[in-house]
Amino acid sequence: MAQESCRLPDDFFFGAAMSGPQTEGRWRDGGKLENLWDTWSNLNITDFHNRVGSYAGNDFSSRRHEDLELLKSLGLTSMRTSIQWSRLLDADGNVNPEGAKYYHELFADAREVGLEVFVNLYHFDMPTHLFRRGGWESREVVEAYAHYATLAFRTFGKEIRHWFTFNEPIVEPEQRYTNGEWYPFIRNYARARAVQYNISLAHALAVREYRAAKEEGCLLDDSRIGLINCFTPPYTRENPSDADLEAVRMTDGVCNRWWLDLVTRGELPQDVISTLASRGIELPRRPEDDLILSDGKVDWLGCNYYHPERVQAPAADVDENGIPQFAQPYVWPEAEMNKSRGWEIYPQGLYDFAMKTRDEYPDLEWFVSENGMGIEREDLRKDESGVIQDDYRVDFVRRHLEWIARAIQDGAKCRGYHYWAVIDNWSWANAFKNRYGFVEVDLEDGYNRRPKKSAAWLKKVATTHVVD
Ligand code: BG6
Repeated sequence: MAQESCRLPDDFFFGAAMSGPQTEGRWRDGGKLENLWDTWSNLNITDFHNRVGSYAGNDFSSRRHEDLELLKSLGLTSMRTSIQWSRLLDADGNVNPEGAKYYHELFADAREVGLEVFVNLYHFDMPTHLFRRGGWESREVVEAYAHYATLAFRTFGKEIRHWFTFNEPIVEPEQRYTNGEWYPFIRNYARARAVQYNISLAHALAVREYRAAKEEGCLLDDSRIGLINCFTPPYTRENPSDADLEAVRMTDGVCNRWWLDLVTRGELPQDVISTLASRGIELPRRPEDDLILSDGKVDWLGCNYYHPERVQAPAADVDENGIPQFAQPYVWPEAEMNKSRGWEIYPQGLYDFAMKTRDEYPDLEWFVSENGMGIEREDLRKDESGVIQDDYRVDFVRRHLEWIARAIQDGAKCRGYHYWAVIDNWSWANAFKNRYGFVEVDLEDGYNRRPKKSAAWLKKVATTHVVD
């Protein structure tokens, strides 16, 4: 897109996205239970970049007030974080008073600073004791999640306006159960789809509990509930074959339509379920499930967008591990890459998602709930005064915002933008390898915060709504 300045609507909001497990640290304080990240860190710390496990987060808990002030000083008006299930509840499923106190204080602090908090209930952080009872493969755990969600709604109902059931529910089925990259390193496509199905039920049960709590007056009158996922229209090669288009249909079906149909229609895409069944993959369905799923409709949606998905027909029906293949990656020869992360940069993907949503789910309101650029060895990019010169980040965000502005002009119901992660944070197994922040966290200097060059640009955009 041409580089001329554009304007986002006055009521378009700017904020920061983060999560509990990637920032809080204090992994054993206040009665917090182990989650899978703590368990994996204990089991094999060498799996984590530079041996930095889940323990420290980015020191947010100790610097909470300072960090919130920092976000506010950048012109942001909202932030998203997640409650850690393993902090809020004890092993018997009761509210852990110290965990509740932790979040009450956080929300009060944010209110005092003038930041609206968006609360997500689950960010890849299964409590380990529940994983040992089957995790997302178990109905008992699905029900335990619904119980956790109820307690969260009723404990913080008068403090929080924006609730989300899950962040990127497609990721655990992929990372933990299909490609085996995350603990417990399973490679089983059918189990992955069962997990995806059970998370969908958990989402719908949580929405049901939310509506009941609202009905009873336990929530703010203007509160809303949503789901956050990573979305991108799948692209394929030019002049695709029927088999390439079939790969697009199934990728779109499993990764996008599955969730979009759930949150707008309260059902799952039948064509996807039929194709899975035709390959012997049966979901663990029960007669009462359709009614549960019908409660999955939300008030709005969060779209995390980092990169597009490009697929083509798979070379074989199953891979070398016996995993059914419905598509395989297609490398677009013209792709522009973020080499640190290995992700393609394609800002137009947001526009394409916006238009698809406008046309196929016209009532759905949404916001960009994550977008960001993680770069390795930013310490090498410091100027003589020690400030990281991250012009690439400005360029990345500018181009995405330009496409968002154009999408809004063309009728998209996109209400705001949260950047991931305004302050550098811990990135799972990559730990602090790739830095996303507009603000550096200096691990060599006691986790001190230092704005990067891009921070001033962010502030200008967030306060003027002019992108240039
Ligand atoms: C999103 C997640 O998928 O991407 C975040 O919601 C994550 O938790 C972010 O940190 C960036 O990905 P990564 O793997 O580079 O940290």
